[in-house]
Amino acid sequence: MRKKVIAGNWKMNNDLMESEKLIVELKNLLQNEKPNCDVIICPPFTSLSEASKLVKGSVIKLGAQNMYFEESGAFTGEVSASMLKSVGCEYVILGHSERRNIFDENDKMINKKIKKALSAELKPIFCVGELLEERENGTTKEVIKKQVLKGLESVSADEMQSIIIAYEPVWAIGTGKTATPAQAQEVHEFIRDLIEIEYSMEVSMNLVILYGGSVKPDNAKQLLSQIDIDGALVGGACLKADSFMGIIKGA
Ligand code: PGA
Repeated sequence: MRKKVIAGNWKMNNDLMESEKLIVELKNLLQNEKPNCDVIICPPFTSLSEASKLVKGSVIKLGAQNMYFEESGAFTGEVSASMLKSVGCEYVILGHSERRNIFDENDKMINKKIKKALSAELKPIFCVGELLEERENGTTKEVIKKQVLKGLESVSADEMQSIIIAYEPVWAIGTGKTATPAQAQEVHEFIRDLIEIEYSMEVSMNLVILYGGSVKPDNAKQLLSQIDIDGALVGGACLKADSFMGIIKGA
């Protein structure tokens, strides 16, 4: 049985004080609940170190939103996998559509990041998703297949145990437009089948696949009840403790 995962992607929101406040609120809400899922938060880099202290002893796990694939050196503005490990990160979001589309990250670069994260024992939350025009011209599965296979190039079956895939249709991110549960399920099933072909039945059955794109407390339960949807990667709705909690309860 795959355990459900609810991950919050804070994006470029919350300075240090706001981060501390949100984590404390979330911890308080979680204290009275025994969540039925893993809870991950991904604050901005500047809050990770403090966040790591605050989540200690709670069920909340820590992730970063990005990293670079080199170990160290002259890469102004970048952060390495070992730096993330050193501040207590267990996960890292890689290949988010905002990284792909605003910062021009391509499949090859994302693959290098995934490989580097794995070698540093960070668990990638590897994002894939089609643009609106790709959905409209019927190439969704083609696009997803390319992103998944190129992103996972030379990743072993063993390493797949540490990977979470997040399906995030770009047209649903931050737009208030959610994929219907059936639309999301169709792509999740497609991804799981793809992984079975590339790896094995076992790897595909153990793979956690999250849905992301305007997940809110009122639509989470329906999405998460789909057989191949193992959780959610949440943007906007994770910035308030009570709405993030609403989604956690939905799981
Ligand atoms: P959203 O973002 O929930 O605000 O649509 C999701 C994401 O980008 O991970």
